[in-house]
Order: sequence, then C-alpha cells, then structure tokens
Amino acid sequence: MDSKKTFLTDQELEKLANFLQKKTGVELEDSKLHRFQRKIEDVFLEHDINDFNSFYHRIRYQKDEDLIQDLTNAVTVNETYFWREFEQFSILTQKILPQFIQSNKIPIVRILVAPCSSGEELYSIMLAILDTANLLEKLNIELVGIDIDSKMVFKAKAGLYTQRSVKKLPKHLLKTYFTKVGNLYKIDDALRKNSYFIKANIFDDSIIEKFGHFDILFSRNMLIYFNELDKQKCYNIFYKILNMKGFLFLGHADANGINKKLFLLYEKGFHIYQKI
Ligand SMILES: C[S@@+](CC[C@H](N)C(=O)[O-])C[C@H]1O[C@@H](n2cnc3c(N)ncnc32)[C@H](O)[C@@H]1O
Repeated sequence: MDSKKTFLTDQELEKLANFLQKKTGVELEDSKLHRFQRKIEDVFLEHDINDFNSFYHRIRYQKDEDLIQDLTNAVTVNETYFWREFEQFSILTQKILPQFIQSNKIPIVRILVAPCSSGEELYSIMLAILDTANLLEKLNIELVGIDIDSKMVFKAKAGLYTQRSVKKLPKHLLKTYFTKVGNLYKIDDALRKNSYFIKANIFDDSIIEKFGHFDILFSRNMLIYFNELDKQKCYNIFYKILNMKGFLFLGHADANGINKKLFLLYEKGFHIYQKI
C-alpha cells in the first residue's frame, strides 16, 4: 500500500475537477476524484510545484499547455482492449462496408475512432476488415484515431501491446499480424499504412472539423463520462463531421439520450445509428 500522505484539500481537488470538466467534458465526482488524487499530486511533484495556488494560476491564467496536458492525462480512464464489443465489427464488415462497394471504382471510406485510447479499437477495425475476404481490394480504407490523452496517442502510434490487451483477439489474427517482442506483441507496419493517430479534444470543433468528413464514426466508452449537456454537444459534433447517411457506432452505455432528430437506430441491440 502507498503510505505517502496526500496534500490537496477537498476544495482544491474540486477546483481542479471543475477546470477539467470544462476542458475535457469528463465529470469527476467526489469518489472518482479521490481515486485520482495521487496521480494529480504526482503532476505537482513532476513539475516541481508545491502549492496549489501557483499550480492553479499556471493552468487557469497562464494556460501552461504542458501542465494542462499532464493533468488531463492523470484523470482519463483509458481502459480498452482488442476485439472489445466485437459484434459491431462483424456488422461493419458484413453489412455496412459492402454498401460502399462500387462497380466502376474503388471508393475511399473514412473511419474516425474518437476516442481511440492506445489504439486497440482502431487496429481491431482494421484487423476485422483484413479478415473479411476481398474487402480491402474493393475499398480504400482510411482510419483516423483521436484522443485527448497524449500518452495514449503515443502508445497507439508505437503499436506495442501486452498479453492482457490481446487476450480476446482471435488467435489466427494475433499469429498473422503481430510479432512477439519480449513479453509484448507488436502490430505489423502494414496495418498502420492508412491509420493516423492524433491528439485532439472532441470539443475542439475547429480542430476536429479540419480532419474533414467521415463515413463511419466509432465513439465507444467516452460519452458515459460526460454530463447530459456535453453528450448532446458531442452528438452535434458527430452529426457535423459525418457524411450524409454516415454510421455512428456507440458503446453500450453511450447511446442514452441520443438525439433522435439527428440519428436513426440502424441495428437494434448493437448501438449502431445512421445520420438522418
Ligand atoms: C475508456 S477509453 C475508451 C477507448 C475505446 N474507445 C474503447 O472503447 O475501448 C475513453 C477514452 O476517452 C478519452 N477522452 C476523454 N475525454 C475526451 C475528449 N474530450 N476528447 C477526446 N478524448 C477524450 C480518454 O483519454 C480515454 O482514452
């Protein structure tokens, strides 16, 4: 057990929580805040700051981006793994992607994964596509993953994974597309050819809009951390960046309160929607 004494008061923690909520959308209620307390305090120590007021001044008024990033990284929940809610990948490859196939040319299909955390979800989509006969010959797939946590984006680019991360991945995919490096699994470079990972905040619409429009958007297990207002803001952003009739894949707990004027349920039981 960590015997180090904590030094931030409840009031100070709450002030940081408010700042982070406005910046990232992530709601940090009391119980969660205390879970993250040590990680937050580590950020103070790493930056050699001993008092709360200087810290707060630097993030709030001096807008110290490094400090804000480290604080953000400390409170994000990055849980993810390969083949998570894999049924959605089957619907994507068997039912949705074939709709994009044309007889006279190979169209580009753009897929956004927001948030991508350390990359397992984006690579799982690519693996599911590779595992489906002929799909890659008929479609030009481009995948973009974004996450607010800079450390996760770095990990995603590195493409090195633990046994725990690949546990649910079908064995033949692990064998074909990964190389063992010590205790870790490194994803093949070929899979990264049309995949891009970018650090971005989903609420930064000016940046998000620069990525262009997408045909398909995966947003799984992020909206559950947002309050109702921020969730609605996200649905609006998703609507803006999706092409007409574009598809939205949500996690099982993300679809609560989805704006039915913007999205129609496409596949019941699997939280897949289509832009109206
Ligand atoms: C639990 S992970 C989900 C990862 C993956 N989509 C999955 O379902 O396995 C949630 C991720 O959302 C990211 N996140 C939280 N707020 C964000 C925001 N405002 N913009 C972009 N990413 C955010 C966190 O950094 C974290 O990596």
